[in-house]
Amino acid sequence: MKSCSVVLEASNIVKVFPGGIKALDNVSLDVRCGEIHALLGENGAGKSTLAKIIAGHLLPDKGEIRVCGRKVVFRGPHDALDHGIFYVQQYPQLVESLSVAENAALLFKEDPLTAYKRVKEYFGVLSLNIEGSTPIYSIPLGLRQRLVLAFALALGAKLLILDEPTTVLSTKEVEKLAKTLKELVREGLSILYITHRLSEVYMVADRATILRRGKVVARLDDPRKVGREKLATLMVGKPLGRFKRPFRTRSCSRKPYLVVKNLVAENDYGAITLRNVNLVVHSGEIVGIAGVEGNGQRELVECIVGLREPKSGRVIAGGKIIRSPKDFRDVGGAFIPEDRFLMLASSLTVCENVVIEKFFWDKLSTRLFGKHVCRHTVLLEALKKYNVKGEPLQPLYSLSGGNQQKVLLIRELEKVPKLIIAYRPSSSLDVLSTQMLINRLVELREKGAAILYVADDLEELLAVSDRIIVINRGQIVANLDAERTSVDEIAKYMVF
Ligand SMILES: Nc1ncnc2c1ncn2[C@@H]1O[C@H](COP(=O)(O)OP(=O)(O)OP(=O)(O)O)[C@@H](O)[C@H]1O
Ligand SMILES: [Mg+2]
Repeated sequence: MKSCSVVLEASNIVKVFPGGIKALDNVSLDVRCGEIHALLGENGAGKSTLAKIIAGHLLPDKGEIRVCGRKVVFRGPHDALDHGIFYVQQYPQLVESLSVAENAALLFKEDPLTAYKRVKEYFGVLSLNIEGSTPIYSIPLGLRQRLVLAFALALGAKLLILDEPTTVLSTKEVEKLAKTLKELVREGLSILYITHRLSEVYMVADRATILRRGKVVARLDDPRKVGREKLATLMVGKPLGRFKRPFRTRSCSRKPYLVVKNLVAENDYGAITLRNVNLVVHSGEIVGIAGVEGNGQRELVECIVGLREPKSGRVIAGGKIIRSPKDFRDVGGAFIPEDRFLMLASSLTVCENVVIEKFFWDKLSTRLFGKHVCRHTVLLEALKKYNVKGEPLQPLYSLSGGNQQKVLLIRELEKVPKLIIAYRPSSSLDVLSTQMLINRLVELREKGAAILYVADDLEELLAVSDRIIVINRGQIVANLDAERTSVDEIAKYMVF
């Protein structure tokens, strides 16, 4: 790609999916050379669809794309790559069972060593240091993201499209990524940056385009000058710049439902990351866990839901020791993980994904001509309640990322669980849906659920929690009343 003032112009793009869903309705957008252009909008607004069209993953029904002023038609991602356009999807697309060098070999169609050397050239600018023989599954998600950026740069990308790149990142990593991206644009790279998080808009965006229901509703020349309320209103149609703490009618019971006793656990590399953790969550209580990512919260959650074996100590829920995911579900446990595909099957329909849960199985499943089919009324009501843009018989992959996450929320939360473990559950949700999730959790708390909620956004954590526990270097360092503490106080314990 030659240097030019406008790298990309997408004009009057229309995309209608089978079933008549108009994902993009006459959308135009341009990205200037050396800018970070934010693409914003509620869940299902059409952001990823536009990104996929620009990157050659999808063909538009109408409209045209120009790269440096020249009209192009992409028949596949490779055509777009030839023009320097690279799309980084929400979850880094790497083959987990292969090594870094083997993944590079797949991409560059060269032997692993040569391909790895190409990628390694960009490790400096991305502050990366990973051996070629390291298997992808052993690399933390944040680093995988950087690795994908190194792949993109090695492929000669001039326009990077980052689709919610921070979903899997901690606050500290987000700041690091923002710094890196700013350095990259200074060197002439251009970035189309898709996000829901207002803080990131302020951190990185030079300009912004906002979509709602497939249409452009605003173009901002300096989004940093637009206030939170206004920006949120443009994105989701309602003023919601900050999270609201729902009213609670009763105080928590003193009945412990989840008890973690002297828990010691290792991470995937055998390092001790939980050092003698003790905590109790009572029925009818929401405990928020705050901490800089990597301080043991992931291992804590995995031990509680039965996915990780503690080195010593134990997890007791509903009076039973939890040793497996089955034990966890048997005591009325619900789990909302960071990676929704741990719990969902993308090739199955929305209905099939929820019907796996016994609560829905009893309500939805019926036999017709010897086959199981879904009865939809209950599900339709739930889809409406959670504001999901999607139909019961749609395959899950055809829903937008945030709407897929909401399908998981329906399955896990509608059964009225006794214990809920939510690990960064809002990372792919827009602000309105996050508030909806907070409200729903407080409703379930009132019905007696014991809830553990891990999040990076401290305002979100304050809005949802009764009590906040801060975890630092694998130990609990503070236990705070959410109504009497502040973002500043929590942050102080996180980093001291
Ligand atoms: N393959 C597909 N088949 C049918 N419909 C689809 C397909 N892909 C996307 N859609 C629909 O197009 C609309 C826009 O989806 P898109 O993924 O672009 O939203 P988004 O803005 O990225 O949302 P999110 O913030 O949740 O990721 C949605 O209603 C979605 O259901
Ligand atoms: Mg999306």
